[in-house]
Amino acid sequence: MRHAPAKIILFGEHAVVYGQPAIAVPFTALQATADSEPASPGSGLIIVANDLQQQLHVKGLDERLDNALSEAARLTLRRLGVPPPDLKVTVSSTIPLASGLGSGAAVTTALIRELSAALGSPLEGDELNNLVYKVEEMHHGTPSGIDNTVIVKGAPVYFIKGQPPKTFEIGAPLTFVIADSGIQASTKESVGAVRDLYNDDPEAYQGFFEEIGAIVEEARQHIERGNLKDIGQLMNRNHHLLNILTVSSPLLNTLVSTARDTGALGAKLSGGGRGGNVIALVEPENAHWVSDAFQEAGAVRTWTTTVGTD
Ligand code: PMV
Repeated sequence: MRHAPAKIILFGEHAVVYGQPAIAVPFTALQATADSEPASPGSGLIIVANDLQQQLHVKGLDERLDNALSEAARLTLRRLGVPPPDLKVTVSSTIPLASGLGSGAAVTTALIRELSAALGSPLEGDELNNLVYKVEEMHHGTPSGIDNTVIVKGAPVYFIKGQPPKTFEIGAPLTFVIADSGIQASTKESVGAVRDLYNDDPEAYQGFFEEIGAIVEEARQHIERGNLKDIGQLMNRNHHLLNILTVSSPLLNTLVSTARDTGALGAKLSGGGRGGNVIALVEPENAHWVSDAFQEAGAVRTWTTTVGTD
């Protein structure tokens, strides 16, 4: 059985598509899982997606497939140079769909890990990352690559599109409360909306992206030094700029201000926005207050996670 974690973007979403840096961490409390068992001779490759109630059959390897899971399997088999085996791969996930937590990239990663391992050639590192990125393009159009990179790496990353990811020190543990707004939102649409704004006024939006990039650089330094208050303030500034990019929503703004009013050090939306999740940096003893307040303000569920304890 193979796994892949969810992820949260701490700083820099959207601007990362335009070459600015971003920071993301794995969120291991939520996982995608893939398992396999032999299938009867002649049955070919069967993918069972429990959560989507889908059963897929991968037969030919020549043509690109519309379904992301089938396409992930097809790309894996082509990379390994083998025909579809008689194998049943079952994928499942505890990561909410379309919520900015990287569910698509995690499911793809778990599937490729399991399929390649079952065939005796486990794919990892850059090879795995490149395959997952190709599947991400089906979901998102022009992904920066941050989701697949942090999920495949399973470690905090400082990421610039087209460059190898860097890791960094975490000077003091960071406790986050994550609120799922319960609103599913398409990253492709929010990225497309930002693209339209940029095309209408490239100079202004380039300026906003650069401001976000500067926040990410500062945030990295404060994360390395363990300056929690500064990190929180930078999250607030990053959220303000995401609002200007029109990727927040009334509910996300309510969740962000609720967290701040309840004593969070800072809060912002995380991921594609317009739905999905909000993250709040908290002192650990305040986590339950912020979690309760999130739920009263409309979050459908919350999680608390601490980054940088190992
Ligand atoms: O797919 P999500 O919701 O985790 O968002 C991905 C982050 C974006 O910066 C909005 C898009 C990208 O490709 O980096």
